[in-house]
Amino acid sequence: MSKITVVGAGNVGATAANVLSIRGVADEVVMIDIKEGVSEGKAMDMMQTANLLDMNTRIKGVTNDYEATKDSDVVIITSGIPRKPGMTREELIGVNAGIVKSVTESVLKYSPNAVIICVSNPMDTMTYLIHKVSGLPKNRIIGMGGALDSSRFKYYLSQELKANPNEVEGMVIGGHGDTTMIPLKRFATLRGIPVSEYLSEEKLDKVVADTMVGGATLTKLLGTSAWYAPGAAAAEVAEAVLHDQDAIIPCSALLDGEYGEKDLCVGVPCLLGKGGIKKIIELPLNEEEKELFRKSSEAVHKTNDALPK
Ligand code: LAC
Repeated sequence: MSKITVVGAGNVGATAANVLSIRGVADEVVMIDIKEGVSEGKAMDMMQTANLLDMNTRIKGVTNDYEATKDSDVVIITSGIPRKPGMTREELIGVNAGIVKSVTESVLKYSPNAVIICVSNPMDTMTYLIHKVSGLPKNRIIGMGGALDSSRFKYYLSQELKANPNEVEGMVIGGHGDTTMIPLKRFATLRGIPVSEYLSEEKLDKVVADTMVGGATLTKLLGTSAWYAPGAAAAEVAEAVLHDQDAIIPCSALLDGEYGEKDLCVGVPCLLGKGGIKKIIELPLNEEEKELFRKSSEAVHKTNDALPK
């Protein structure tokens, strides 16, 4: 039996649970939250779609009862407060660090062998914190930011290309922040054809800029941060791991010399499958991209320095 736990049944967590269940990724999905009744209610709502959607996943919602998460193969941590309009992800560090630390400890008590996917913001720093708190092998902790940012990049590319988003390939590496993410326009393609064949440098730069504030733009519209794409991105990462897909997805990974960085979690292309990160893929970056990566890493290091000691 395969089992995924989603910690935090807010908008992002519930969306992840819903996507995973509809896609039939695991036999069982458990949602756990600190707010009495929220997980239970949302699980019930989702289970009431089973017949409508031909869904076979068993979804369970619990309040604070970590025993119900026992023996999960994958745990997605979405806990913490989301940003409001005008806030950066980095501003959430004080509150979210305490929450993510205690959630990690509770999760590992019952699922010592799980692969952990971090969604909580500031995502790269929270992924790093999970490493520090847990001491787990580095392959078993994955930050999902790059999966989300890459999906946004492909969306904005498809808009400019007037193409189906599914025909577009592209990756975003670097930090999951409005000024730190690096949409790799040089490597983006429309069905294998470099997008530079269709779009001017000016248009490509606009796509890059739109991608970087993709989350902030809709946060301004909604009054709170996004959930459909973040939830689906977390589900994509979980599926790649649980189904041993050997999928290449940019994720926040602990670097140990790759890309010239150490003691840092930041977005890089990862080969995902059984056990988590099987390999970090080192792209042949040019000097400009290397400089962007160095600057992005420096900013993430700085956020990490603000972690409570
Ligand atoms: C976003 C949040 C989840 O980018 O970081 O929408």
